[in-house]
Amino acid sequence: MAANDHDSEPQPAADQETDRRAMLSKLTIGAGLALGGAVAVGPLSMAISPVVRGDSAREQDGWTAVGPIDRFVVGGAPQRVVLRRDKQDGWLLRRQQSIGSVLVQRVDATTFHVFSAVCPHLGCAVGVSDAGDHYACPCHRSSFMLDGTRRENADGATNPAPRPLDALAARVADGQLLVEWVRYRPGTADQVRIA
Ligand code: FES
Repeated sequence: MAANDHDSEPQPAADQETDRRAMLSKLTIGAGLALGGAVAVGPLSMAISPVVRGDSAREQDGWTAVGPIDRFVVGGAPQRVVLRRDKQDGWLLRRQQSIGSVLVQRVDATTFHVFSAVCPHLGCAVGVSDAGDHYACPCHRSSFMLDGTRRENADGATNPAPRPLDALAARVADGQLLVEWVRYRPGTADQVRIA
């Protein structure tokens, strides 16, 4: 019998079993590699996404969005608004975290008075009075006019604020009010920037 005649004959059952196991082994390795790749892609995309995605132009250039200007009525009562920004902590990007509050009054179509809501006395959150005609701090009764200057309390109580409210730069772009958020040290007569 010629050698190639043997090759054309049906293989023994043991050989077929060996071939089947080899094929299963290759399939298992392939599936493992595919799964490992998928698992690796998750963390990798998280790692690079902040770099690729980037923050909005408004936040990159130091301005923070307060909101659409339409939410503020010309000549209306002031509003206290919480500012939110994305915060980068290493590779972790935290979306829309609170960074502080501002007091906003719309004077005319394009003019806004914006103050930090951090009380210049000891740092509590200043709010708008019930009548909307002045600002007041609930902690120790600091009180301010709508232009940010110190105000005498109607009942004669001491106003402990050492300086007026801290005014913040503001501008309008694309129908949005933007503010340059700055923190000043409480408890000093002069403004001392701390962040
Ligand atoms: S912290 Fe506002 S009055 Fe004291």
